[in-house]
Amino acid sequence: MPTEHKIILANSQQMPEIADSSIQLMVTSPPYPMIKMWDTQFSKINPQIATLWHSLETGSREETVTQIYDAMHETLARTWREAFRVLADGGIACINIGDATRTVNGKFRLFPNHSRIIEHCEKTGFTALPYILWKKPTTKPKYKGKGAFLGSGFLPPNAYVTLDCEFILLFRKGKLRQFPPNDPSRYASAFTKQQRDEWFTQIWNIIGTHQTQSQIERRIASFPDEIANRLVRMFSVKGDTILDPFLGSGTTTRLAMQNERSSIGYETDETLLPLLKKKLHLEPKTCKLSFIKRED
Ligand SMILES: C[S@@+](CC[C@H](N)C(=O)[O-])C[C@H]1O[C@@H](n2cnc3c(N)ncnc32)[C@H](O)[C@@H]1O
Repeated sequence: MPTEHKIILANSQQMPEIADSSIQLMVTSPPYPMIKMWDTQFSKINPQIATLWHSLETGSREETVTQIYDAMHETLARTWREAFRVLADGGIACINIGDATRTVNGKFRLFPNHSRIIEHCEKTGFTALPYILWKKPTTKPKYKGKGAFLGSGFLPPNAYVTLDCEFILLFRKGKLRQFPPNDPSRYASAFTKQQRDEWFTQIWNIIGTHQTQSQIERRIASFPDEIANRLVRMFSVKGDTILDPFLGSGTTTRLAMQNERSSIGYETDETLLPLLKKKLHLEPKTCKLSFIKRED
């Protein structure tokens, strides 16, 4: 089946290239709020965040920490609102997100990103559905927020539980999607019983691809192909169009190509272009791929 794939080098807070209600599925993983590696990017997209970090350095106030966290989620929420506009009735949104732990203003704490995104998406109009926990291989437990337990190993109570799950949040826009009876594209997209039993459970044990990934893919925390493959096959049919507003290395586009779905991806970081071209050029000849740079 011929499919079309557009990669738009632009900020997904606005998606004027996409008509209202024209997308059937979103699969994405945004930058994670309060994870250090994404600080610079949040500050670039929303300069108010840079100012807040600066004021925290010059005078510590708990209120400023809350303002930074709120501003990061409001920055993402602009994209969630655009996603809601472009999704069709019955369309599904899948958002991979991890919570963050961090010592800020002298205090170690949890930033529960998944619950903030659920709140923002519900306010936008999405209906929350049961989510998936992606269980990653366990890292070392923490003692007072400082890596391993060290010598104080077995003494309560000042140790923390390790974050070894990420979330794949699921939402629907509007009512259940309707199909004509015996719709051929739906039947051609069926999964096997084994796939159904494995994919529709709440905990997914999928090992990361750290060893096989390039340095850039690790820098932008790309998700494993298996995650995108499952979500594409669970929540869309052949011929649908899939959106990834935080495209990174193009995993969603590649899995859309392999599963005979069209796709649109947004990415602000132009240094990823060579990687995107390399990762996507081997895909089936029936896939038409184009790169568009929006001049803002
Ligand atoms: C966690 S990475 C996505 C990784 C991707 N799932 C993969 O498999 O490679 C998030 C990406 O979103 C991009 N980004 C952040 N804010 C953006 C925005 N407002 N619009 C478009 N892209 C954005 C970042 O440059 C980064 O590449």
